[in-house]
Amino acid sequence: MGRVAIVTGGTRGIGKAISIGLKRAGYQPAATYQGNDEAAKAFNAETGIRVYKFDVADYDHCVAAVKRIAGEMGPVDVLVNNAGITRDATLHKMSPGQWKEVIDTNLTSCFNMCRCVIESMRERGFGRIVNIGSINGQAGQYGQVNYAAAKSGIHGFTKALAQEGAAKGITVNAIAPGYINTDMVRAVPAPVLEKIVAKIPVGRLGEAEEIARTVLFLVADEAGFVTGSTVSVNGGQHMY
Ligand code: CAA
Repeated sequence: MGRVAIVTGGTRGIGKAISIGLKRAGYQPAATYQGNDEAAKAFNAETGIRVYKFDVADYDHCVAAVKRIAGEMGPVDVLVNNAGITRDATLHKMSPGQWKEVIDTNLTSCFNMCRCVIESMRERGFGRIVNIGSINGQAGQYGQVNYAAAKSGIHGFTKALAQEGAAKGITVNAIAPGYINTDMVRAVPAPVLEKIVAKIPVGRLGEAEEIARTVLFLVADEAGFVTGSTVSVNGGQHMY
């Protein structure tokens, strides 16, 4: 049997492509989701991949869910922290709720989920963690102080945990996607999005499968020397 892999937010968008990519590569993915039952049901019918509903922003929910997944599928070898939301607004219009929701769902979720799998990974001497950051965590983005702060936090979190896991066979890496052709990006007002796409040297939005491909590289057994890195997949929009 292939390695058990949790993909948070794994039933739609980038997460869906990651779950499918992992299954095709022989892993046993568990796709988590929080809100959209219909999409999760359709995803499960289409792919046969198990789905688990819980809120990654809630520590106790994560503890219970990871316990259930490990009980049903086996110990978790791979964790992809992909779940994320936007609540875009300029700071002078942003509510404390919009700030907190994004920080909790996009950043605190990484603590919650990693905390739930790390002891077992340490005991077994193997783990692959991939955190999905963002170009907007690297470069900032007008209207996204909450999202940029959370995604930027993911990059620091990744490097710190990579140091802790290195001697235990656990790699921790981040991917910083640019603008990918998903519901989240399609929700950006059209005139704003047009201007953004015009600045992408490759000349188009990215595809979710292009992120999945990068995840597969990072989670491979053979990728044990790659840790603490951030791989940018953004069509050349931001280079540093
Ligand atoms: N830079 C400079 N000025 C900008 C700007 C920018 N990027 N975007 C908007 N402005 C200006 C506008 O031109 C406008 O100025 P004027 O009044 O002088 O014309 C002013 O800011 C107000 O703009 P809006 O009318 O858009 O203001 P709003 O309050 O209605 O909306 C907003 C603001 C919510 C930030 C909206 O502009 C927006 O949704 N922007 C998209 C933000 C974005 O890119 N989000 C990414 C989502 S996808 C994602 O996050 C995935 C990922 O990881 C990449």
